[in-house]
This record gives sequence, structure tokens and C-alpha cells, in this order.
Amino acid sequence: MKVLRLVTAAAVTSTLALLPLATAGPAAGAEASAAARDRPLRQLAADDRLRVGTAVDTTALAEDAPYRRIAGSEFSSVTPENVMKWEVIEPRRGEYDYAEADRLVRFAERHGQKVRGHVLVWHSQLPSWLTEGDFTKEELREILRRHVTDTVRHFKGRIWHWDVVNEAFNEDGTLRDSIWLRELGPGYIADAFRWAHEADPRAKLFYNDYNIEWAGPKSDAVLDLVRTLRAEGVPVDGVGFQGHLGIQYGLPGGVAANFQRFDALGVQTAVTEADVRMVMPADDEKLRTQAEGYRLLLDACLRARHCVSFTVWGFTDKYSWVPDTFEGEGAANILDETYRPKPAYRALQAALAGRARPTTSG
Ligand code: G3I
Repeated sequence: MKVLRLVTAAAVTSTLALLPLATAGPAAGAEASAAARDRPLRQLAADDRLRVGTAVDTTALAEDAPYRRIAGSEFSSVTPENVMKWEVIEPRRGEYDYAEADRLVRFAERHGQKVRGHVLVWHSQLPSWLTEGDFTKEELREILRRHVTDTVRHFKGRIWHWDVVNEAFNEDGTLRDSIWLRELGPGYIADAFRWAHEADPRAKLFYNDYNIEWAGPKSDAVLDLVRTLRAEGVPVDGVGFQGHLGIQYGLPGGVAANFQRFDALGVQTAVTEADVRMVMPADDEKLRTQAEGYRLLLDACLRARHCVSFTVWGFTDKYSWVPDTFEGEGAANILDETYRPKPAYRALQAALAGRARPTTSG
């Protein structure tokens, strides 16, 4: 068994443990053993060779001291929520701006954290010079090759996982009609993995998507893609299950079994963007269901031999992307707007403290 060595402050007591639950949530609160309650998530997860991560809003990291303290103490990996995206790092053609991303990488290194690089090839958050430009197919292919190569090279040796291709499928399992599919054809996916591997052979390369946590046409398609690519020798190392859930749809079933299907391919798996939103206002019952949602994602990961990280998409309701995207919804994170732990936080602690994991090659 391989144990992750994490650099953590000695005998860290979670400062969150000192705070009361955001609401009365006696069932979820009582679940956590006393021993679990006073340890940060990263320490509990280290016992089980799992990195527990968060997406980071770098503006909050710079300006909000409690946010910074919790980001550094609770998590053992970080994902830039926005600052490694193409529109940020190359806002004008040929003008690169890695400043914010570099700052986050330095923060991670100071805190003994790994970095999940997010994201190289996506249909969203592309710079306007690219989406509005008039390029030939050959030019676009070269632009994409350069973007993947330059970005991975810039961070070479400092990125643990790259989300190389993000959200390439529709819900019915067909490929998404993106600029990349339209202009380059489906081969862009294999190309991107090959270019990324060439630029940093040690980084683990992931395909990442949402609504693939359970079995269905979309996760079947991703499974097929990964199986095919690996059979062709394309360097795909892992699959990221984003884990954006909403309790109003009911919690998904069969998640652990679905993770096992990917596990059986021999690829690494990861929960990369967990959050569980609800129709507002929140109440105790919704928060308990939310806690179950987080727990089922973490359980699926813990049961999969090759699941190496569990990342939440932000840790506080203060800075969530959800209310801006889904009107009337929110409260999706594990801490409330004032950083008080919610039942979901306690459920993660309890799950990490109470699990038994199959052994793995790591
Ligand atoms: O940076 C600009 C700022 O200059 C401008 O003044 C402001 C005005 O709206 O917008 C800012 O950009 C916003 C950006 O986040 C940074 O805050 C965009 O409008 C906003 O659309 C963007 O949202 C991000 C979203 O991806 C875009 O699709 C969310 O923060 C981010 O959490 C979200 O993350 C994605 C993952 O990358 C992939 N999986 C799904 C996940 C949730 O949508």
C-alpha cells in the first residue's frame, strides 16, 4: 500500500471543529466520531492515501484571510476555479498572463498541496480573439497545439493532474458540437492528450465531465472513449467525475458501481468538482440531504481502488458559482457564507474517519 506523504502542520486541529454547525443537524453531526471532528479533512484523507481538494477563487484567496487560512489548512490539493482557463492566460493572441495561476501554484507549494490543472481543452471560457477569429482548420489545430503545449510547459513539474479535455459529450453520449469537434473532428481529443504528455510526461492526464457519476449514455460514452484511446496507446491516465449535484433531482443511484467500471479499466479516477445545490431557502432537511449527496460521492471514490482525489468546487457558500448560474438555487458548499461547517462537512469528516479502502498501487 502506498501512503501519500502530506506536509501538514503538526497535530493540526481543525479550526472549523471549534465552530457550531451552520444549522442544527443532529443526525449528521452525531455521525462524526469525536476523533474525526477535530481533524481537518486533509489529515483524515492522508490516512487513506487520498488527496482532498478544493477549487480556489484566487481573488478571495488574496483578499479574504479566513478563506486563505481554511484553503491552506483543510485541503491537500487545489484546483484553480478560473485562472488557468484560456481566456485568462491568453486574453489577447500571443499575450500570456500566468500571474494569478502562478500565485496559486506557489500557495499550493507552500502548503504542501498538489495542483489539479484545469483546464486545457474546453468549449467555454475561450478568448474572444479565438472564438471570433476567422481561422482555417489547419490554423486552429496549430493554435490548439500551441495552447496545450505552452500551458503544460509553463507549469511543467508543478501540476499533479491536468484536466486535458473537459465536457466533450452531450447527455445522450454523442460528442458535443464545439468549435473543436466542428473544425478538427473527434481526433482533437487524442491529439490533446498526446501534446500534453509530450510537454510534461509526469503529469497525470484526465478526461473530465459532469453527469457521468452514474451509469447512462453519457458515462457509457466516456467509458468507451477511454477504453478506445488507451487501446490505441493514447496517454489518458484518469477520469474526473465533476460531481455537480442538485438535491431537487433526487440523489443519483449506482454511483459506486459506476466508478468501479472505470476502475476496472485501470485508469485513475477522481471527484473533481463536487457541490450539491438546492432550491433556496435552505432548511435542515435539505442540508441533511445535501450531506448525503457529498457522502455518496466520497463513498464511491473511497470504494474505487484507483480513486486518488476528492475535490469540492469551492468550500464556502460565500463564493459559489451556483447562484449566478441557477436562479433561486444555492447553498451548495460544505461551509456556509460565514465559514461555519454544514452537515456536509461533518459527513465528509465522518466518511473519511470511518472508511476501509481496498489496497491499490496508488
Ligand atoms: O473575470 C470576469 C470579470 O472580469 C467580469 O467583470 C465578471 C462580470 O460577470 O465576470 C468575470 O468572469 C466570470 C468568471 O467566472 C470569473 O469569475 C464569468 O462571468 C463567469 O461566467 C465565470 O463562471 C465560471 C464558470 O465555470 C464559467 O463557465 C465559474 O466561476 C466556475 O466555477 C465554473 O466552473 C466550471 C468548471 O470550470 C467546469 N465544470 C463546470 C464548472 C461550473 O460551471
